[in-house]
Formats: sequence, C-alpha cells, structure tokens
Amino acid sequence: MLPVSSTDRLFILTGAGVSAESGIPTFRGVKGLWRNYRIEEVASPEAWHRDPQLVWEFYSMRRRVASAAKPNPAHFALATLENSLQDRLFVCTQNVDNLQEQAGSRNVVHMHGELFKSRCDTCGCRPFDDTNLYEPPAEIPRCECGGRIRPHICWFGEVPFELDRIFLVLERCTIFLAVGTSGVVAPAASFVAHVAGRARTIYVGPERPANASAFTECHLGKAGEMLPHLLGSSCA
Ligand code: OAD
Repeated sequence: MLPVSSTDRLFILTGAGVSAESGIPTFRGVKGLWRNYRIEEVASPEAWHRDPQLVWEFYSMRRRVASAAKPNPAHFALATLENSLQDRLFVCTQNVDNLQEQAGSRNVVHMHGELFKSRCDTCGCRPFDDTNLYEPPAEIPRCECGGRIRPHICWFGEVPFELDRIFLVLERCTIFLAVGTSGVVAPAASFVAHVAGRARTIYVGPERPANASAFTECHLGKAGEMLPHLLGSSCA
C-alpha cells in the first residue's frame, strides 16, 4: 500500500504495459513487431516521407486494436486515485490509446500523442478527432490546404507534447510512480533521474526496466494486479 499524505503530489508515468492486459501489445514484447517492422521503422518522419501508405496502414491497425480494447483494473485504479487526489495527481502517459479516459480520468497528458486524432503535416491546423481506418489507403487524406493528413503521434525524432508542463509538475512532485514502461525511450526514461533524491520513486511492472537503478523501489507484477492494491486505500 502506498501511503499518500495531504501534502504529497504524485506524478504517474504510464507506458504500454498498462494497456497490455487490455489486449494492446507492448512495443518491445514478443508481439511487438508489425510485419517484421520495428516501431522505429514505421513511426518516424522519414517513414512518412518514404511511404505514407505504410504508416497509415500501421496506425489503422493500431486504431482497430485499440477500438476493441477496454480499460483494465490498472486504468480504473488510476482514475479512482484522481478522484480522491484531484490536482495533486498528474498522469502522464506515453500511450496513445484512450483507455485511461475510458476508465474515467479527466486529466491525462498524452506526451506521445493520441491515436484517435489526426492533423495536417503542412499547416498548423488543430489536431481533430479521427477514428477512420485508412487501410490500405488508396490516397492519403488531404487537408484543405493541400497538405497530407497524418496521425497525431509524436514520432521518433520529433519533440513530445507538453514537455514544459511535464517538467514543471516533475519539479513539484513528492512521489514519482512509473508503470509498465521499459525505460529505454527518451525523454520519459529520464524523468525518474530528474526527481531522484527528492521524491520517492517507485516502479511497477513484471520486469525491471532498463533504468531500474534510478528507482528506490521496484514492485514486480502486472499493473492490473498490482495497482489496485498499491493505490487502493491511498488516502488524500
Ligand atoms: P515498451 O514496449 O518498451 O515496454 C513495455 C513495458 O511494459 C515492459 O517493460 C514490460 O515489462 C511491461 N509490461 C508488460 N506487461 C505488463 C503488465 N501487464 N503490467 C505492467 N507492465 C507490463 O513500451 P513503452 O516503455 O511504453 O513511442 O515504450 C515507450 C515508447 O516507445 C512508446 O510510447 C512508443 C514506443 O516506441 C512512440 O510510438 C513514439
């Protein structure tokens, strides 16, 4: 059980492992390859310029998988904690699915973007809701400006969303909890080092992440089994 005092501020970083029990494969697990492509090969500006059809096929497949998924007890445990801690809880996810919102969370920062949004690759138009599947896309959808519509995803080589806000909240947190993330993708993998020494740092997942040495505690197990117990009666 994680004791939370009335002055604590929690920063929670989630990764693909939180949605694994909902049926969405992780990136670096055994089912992490798509048609023998590594994620880095289809999730980059270079891939988009080289073969936008392939990129849309990949994200259409991910939209289909995520549409069929339902939140699991880990998502619900985090949503319940938000209800009790309100703005003293900050959930920053690397996941692009919307399972955390489906579980009832209202304040989730998607630092790697959102699967069910798209935007123009040319003009600065706002990302818009888009659940369409473009597989195989005969033509890449176009914006009014003539630019191509792309997934609203932070690709390798691009800057994650809301980093200024994320680092402000990291500065103030007293408890840092990372769940289901392998600790290899920057900058999220370095958040724990940023707070180490002044915040309690906890990891939850079935195996130790690559950055395990930066955590003060590692709780080994599945998020859906561990979080309801760890966060269950955390008090405000
Ligand atoms: P990874 O696929 O790298 O790591 C998933 C982690 O989840 C691993 O450490 C697993 O041990 C753990 N895991 C598996 N099942 C779990 C369970 N039931 N409960 C808890 N943990 C479990 O995914 P991320 O670290 O999220 O970026 O990957 C980071 C980023 O790399 C992603 O956001 C994505 C990817 O490339 C972009 O697409 C930009």
